[in-house]
Amino acid sequence: MPRSEPIKAVRGVRDILPGELPLWRAAEQAASAVARRFGYEEIVTPILEHAELIERAGEDTDAFAKELYRFEDRSGRALALRPEATAGVVRAYFERGLNQGPQPTRLFLTGPMFRYDRPQKGRYRQFYQLDVEAIGSAAAALDAEVIELARDWLREVGLGDLRLELNSIGDSKCKPAYLERLQDYYRPLKAKLSPDSQQRLERNPLRLLDSKSEQDAPFKSSAPKITDHLCDECATHWALVRRLLDTAEIEYVLNPYLVRGLDYYTRTVFEFYPSGAAGQQDALGGGGRYDGLAEAEGWPPTAAVGFASGLDRVTELIAASGVDVIARPTADVLVVPDGDLAVEAAEVARICRAVRSTAVDYESKSLTAKMRAANKLGAKWVVLLTLDAASRRSAQLRDMTSGEQEELAWVELPTRLA
Ligand code: HAM
Repeated sequence: MPRSEPIKAVRGVRDILPGELPLWRAAEQAASAVARRFGYEEIVTPILEHAELIERAGEDTDAFAKELYRFEDRSGRALALRPEATAGVVRAYFERGLNQGPQPTRLFLTGPMFRYDRPQKGRYRQFYQLDVEAIGSAAAALDAEVIELARDWLREVGLGDLRLELNSIGDSKCKPAYLERLQDYYRPLKAKLSPDSQQRLERNPLRLLDSKSEQDAPFKSSAPKITDHLCDECATHWALVRRLLDTAEIEYVLNPYLVRGLDYYTRTVFEFYPSGAAGQQDALGGGGRYDGLAEAEGWPPTAAVGFASGLDRVTELIAASGVDVIARPTADVLVVPDGDLAVEAAEVARICRAVRSTAVDYESKSLTAKMRAANKLGAKWVVLLTLDAASRRSAQLRDMTSGEQEELAWVELPTRLA
C-alpha cells in the first residue's frame, strides 16, 4: 500500500459519532438507573483476560472458539479480548472476595466486547453490552428478577414492544440423559441433516435444536423436548420461574428450541426480540442461569443467573423507531469573533461557560459563513465579538430563536444567559 493511502477503521469496528452518542448515553443512563433500582451495583472488569478463562466457559462451543480474539502478548501469555462479560465477572467475584459478603451479589457492567463475527448491520466485531449478573443464589425468583430488570430497561428506552422467549435446558443431573434421547432420535436421520448438524450430533447435540438450516427444519417438531424430561428439582424451578413471571405480568413465549449459543447455561434460558422479528441475529438480549460456570472456572460450585443486551442493536432500534429519547446536543452558546480576536473570544467563552455550554468558532471565515454554521449547530445564543466592542470588553448577544440582539458587557453575560 502506498504510504499516502489513508488508513481506515478495522473491519467490523466502528466509531460512534457525537451525533449518535447522546442516544448511547441515554440508554446507558437508563440501564444504570434501572439496575440500581433493583439493587445491582456497577463493576468494571478488564477487557483482557487469560484466554483459558474464556475457553473454559465455552469449552464445547466451536463457534465461540472461532470467534475469539486470541493472541499471545510479548511474554508469550495466551490472552483474549473478552467476547462477553460473564466469565470475567465470575472470576472477579471470587478473586476479589465478593463471594464473602451476604449473597447473592448483584452486579452490572457496560462496556465493549469483541467477537470475530461476520460483520453486518447489528453485528460488529467490537460491540457493547449491558451485562447484569446475580451470583450466589439458586432462587428461581432471581431468574424472574433479572428478566424483569431487562424488560424494564428496554421499556424505559422506548422498546416496550418485545417478545420474550423462554425455555429450560435442565442441569447436570437431567441434561445428559436428555442429550442421549436427542441423539437417539437424530442418529437415524443423520444423512438427511445439514453438514453442521451432522457434526453437532456427536459433539454438541443440544445445538441441533437451534439450527437455522432449512434442511434440518422438518425433523425438529418431533424431536424430544427437554422440558418434558426435566428432573424433579429442575421441573419445580421451571414452574416457579413461570409463576413468578405470570405474577409480574411479564408475557413470554415458550420456545423448546431455545438453547443459547454458550455452553454454560443450566435451567432457565431466555432471549428478547423486537416483536415481529425472528432469528438469533435480531436478539436484543439474552441470558439465563449458569450454575456450572464457577466450577468450570475452577472455583467452588456457585449458582448464578444473568443476562446481556447489545447496546449497538438497542440504540439502532431506538433511532429507527424515531422515539425522541434525547434532544439534539450542541453547545448552547457559540462565541463568534469577527476578525483576529482569539484571545478575547477564549476569555468570553470562559465567562459564558460558568452558566452554559459554550463553543468558539476560531475559523478565519467570513461573518456570514460563521453565522450560517451557528444556525446549523443549533446554538441558542451567539455572542458576536467585534474589534470595537472587544476593546470596550463588551459584545453583541444574539438570541437565535427570536433573532433579538443586544450589546452587553462581558461580565453581564452569565446573568443574561442563566
Ligand atoms: P449473548 O447472547 O452472546 O449472551 O449476547 C447478548 C447480546 O449481545 C445479544 O443478544 C446481542 O444483543 C448482543 N450481541 C452479541 N454479539 C453481538 C455482535 N457481534 N454485535 C452486536 N451485538 C451483539 C452473552 O453474552 C451472555 N454473557 C449473557 C449472559 C449474562 N448470560 C448470563 N449472564
